[in-house]
Amino acid sequence: MNASDLQQKARDHLWLHFTRMSGYADADIPIIVRGDGCYLEDSNGKRYLDALAGLFAVNVGYGFGDEIGQAAHDQMKELPFYTNWSYAHPRAIELAAEVAELAPGELNRVFFCSGGSEAVESAWKLARQHYAARGENTRAEAAKRMIAGGRIEEQPAHERRWKAISRNVAYHGTTMGALSINGIPALRTPFEPLVPEVAHVRNTNRYHRPAEETEEQFTAMLLEDLQNAIEALGPETVAMVIMEPVQNAGGAFTPPEGYWRGVRELCDRYEILLCADEVITGFGRLGHWFGSERYDIRPDIVTMAKGLSSAHAAIGGVIATDRVMEPFLQGSTMYSHGITFGGHPVMAAIALKNIEIMKRERIVEHVKSNEDRFRDTLAQLLDLPIAGDLRGTGFFYALELVKDKETRETFSDEECEWLLRGFLSKRLFEAGLICRADDRGDPVIQISPPLVAGQDEFDKIASILGEVLSEAWAELEKGRGKALAKA
Ligand SMILES: Cc1ncc(COP(=O)(O)O)c(C=O)c1O
Repeated sequence: MNASDLQQKARDHLWLHFTRMSGYADADIPIIVRGDGCYLEDSNGKRYLDALAGLFAVNVGYGFGDEIGQAAHDQMKELPFYTNWSYAHPRAIELAAEVAELAPGELNRVFFCSGGSEAVESAWKLARQHYAARGENTRAEAAKRMIAGGRIEEQPAHERRWKAISRNVAYHGTTMGALSINGIPALRTPFEPLVPEVAHVRNTNRYHRPAEETEEQFTAMLLEDLQNAIEALGPETVAMVIMEPVQNAGGAFTPPEGYWRGVRELCDRYEILLCADEVITGFGRLGHWFGSERYDIRPDIVTMAKGLSSAHAAIGGVIATDRVMEPFLQGSTMYSHGITFGGHPVMAAIALKNIEIMKRERIVEHVKSNEDRFRDTLAQLLDLPIAGDLRGTGFFYALELVKDKETRETFSDEECEWLLRGFLSKRLFEAGLICRADDRGDPVIQISPPLVAGQDEFDKIASILGEVLSEAWAELEKGRGKALAKA
């Protein structure tokens, strides 16, 4: 199909996700036709540097399609599909073992699904059922002892827990459970009432905190907020606290010193399961296989998707510790959850090949040894009047845009609308750079290239961003000039 046929059929039939379709009434839908390394090409033959790795997902970049495709082809010939409902097959077993090997601590049990939202959904259901299963098992034990010893045991105290706690502005997916966990009001509101009951606590955005606040005070304030939320919900009803090692939405919020230790302590104190949502941070993005390792988070549950297969397959999953799994290994208890394509053999074969490539090419090590260079290159942008803050780590950064660097004043809603959607998204794309201008929190540019990016790509990202952000500032100044003249 030629470029204009594709364009017409896209307009007539394809429904783009999270996209104002009216925006394409008079403009062409961007159609990406191929990729190589960190670059993409559109249907008109124009090249782009993909500084977003698909959607924080194509960790090995676009250069391993042949090899990964061969693995998929081999698996198609051997066993194109079988299910994980009551059955195993070699690729799901091998992938579960490989992931358990890479994951830190006692994270040894893997439940596969098809993506990140399903992973978050599965984690919440798992946490809920973990407590119910513990209660049931305790009761079954008690009944046995009662029969043996002839005395009545007390009912176990906490048999059911269902609530979850996540953070403001955090994105955790779009299915109803995952959406309820989401901390982004604009995404939640159209679908209310959502799944009860989730509380949202403060995230680790430090940029707009009082200048005199120390890191220690900041951490203490965040932990107090979490503790208050737990107490307000009733600790005996809370099943799970779910947070990303570095929060993406809002702009790469890294944790302050002592934060994760404190979160872990609170979860231990109130016996709440801690889930690290590693849909983005897993598989090398932070220079470790898992962000949980980098920050010593010690989660009970991990969610993963995107980088597990470098987005070459629709596969995600939940990793649980032995302790979380334990009640499900007893009696008639089972995790009452399943998805037809969970652990799909072709998807699993692709993920296995992806991990093999990541190990062979030392991609995680590459991120670790280049993260400082990447940050230093991006930090040059802080000379621009519009660039307020650069946050992040590994190959995962956000640049916060401000109206006034001194006061850290942010843009109004109308200014954001013009700046991000009216100007930056279009101009960056025209200039050959794919990254994301996002205002789910304060306005930021998100930068998250394939993990094979090197200094050439770092320079190109900084140079295009520098040019386009300078143009945006000049336009804003012009606008302000005009407004002043009118006044
Ligand atoms: C942290 C996090 N969790 C969950 C999801 C949902 O993943 P998916 O889009 O694969 O459903 C995302 C997607 O970006 C994410 O960033």
